[in-house]
Amino acid sequence: MLKLPTKPNPTATNPNPNRHPDTNATNPKKSVIVKLENVRKTYTNGAVGLRDVSIELYQGDFKFITGHSGSGKSTLLKLLYGAEQATDGEIFVNGFNLKGLKGKNLAMLRRKIGIVFQDYKLVPRRTVSENVAFVLMAQGYTYKEIQRRVQPALKMVGLLHKAHCFPEELSGGEQQRTSIARAIVNTPPLVLADEPTGNLDPDNAWQVIKILKKLNSFGVTVLLTTHDEQLVRAANHPVLHLQNGYIA
Ligand SMILES: Nc1ncnc2c1ncn2[C@@H]1O[C@H](COP(=O)(O)OP(=O)(O)OP(=O)(O)O)[C@@H](O)[C@H]1O
Ligand SMILES: [Mg+2]
Repeated sequence: MLKLPTKPNPTATNPNPNRHPDTNATNPKKSVIVKLENVRKTYTNGAVGLRDVSIELYQGDFKFITGHSGSGKSTLLKLLYGAEQATDGEIFVNGFNLKGLKGKNLAMLRRKIGIVFQDYKLVPRRTVSENVAFVLMAQGYTYKEIQRRVQPALKMVGLLHKAHCFPEELSGGEQQRTSIARAIVNTPPLVLADEPTGNLDPDNAWQVIKILKKLNSFGVTVLLTTHDEQLVRAANHPVLHLQNGYIA
């Protein structure tokens, strides 16, 4: 049985003095887990990723981000996991103020975010279970704790029977489900997925959405970019639409 956080408490161990006050709300169901205030991102070559974006996500939300190519979807997610810094505005994630966040604090933020990419980013010479375990090893978990966590994560994505396969022995859908297991193995309260179904056929895409929906039912907040309007309609979650760097 996967020990996912039924009541994730993203701020419990966060020593960041810049914690956003909203995350201390008394009603845990209504805690703000992501907040952007007038965020602008201009890349060093002058390209504009986001122009003026203000959004709030509450713990337990499941939201899609849609928009044409170049509208800023990936930029938004990269800002949230600290791969890019905002040019202007404020960003709070899991209680961290992301302004100037680096080193140990950035690593702590990332431990509380599961990230899923369109192209899976699995390590080719590692088995499925090694790919999933890797993140825990890097964080210094004991062997016993790693065993305790990897199996349920693989079970959650329906891949226990492929635990000893290498990525090249898996279908695209199975590779993506492995990457989801890796993203959730340390039970983050927030999952960010950038076009996770972009390389998958409709059946596999729906399997991925179903897994993310299940995680969400355990209280995990999910933010997912996609071009697939049919999928968005079928999944029936709120949509943030980006247009030329603005929320439309
Ligand atoms: N590293 C970068 N350096 C310079 N410009 C960038 C960089 N990353 C993105 N951009 C620019 O920022 C804008 C938004 O890009 P972004 O990748 O966020 O779009 P997107 O909505 O994810 O598009 P897609 O649907 O094609 O993935 C684009 O004009 C893009 O060219
Ligand atoms: Mg993108």
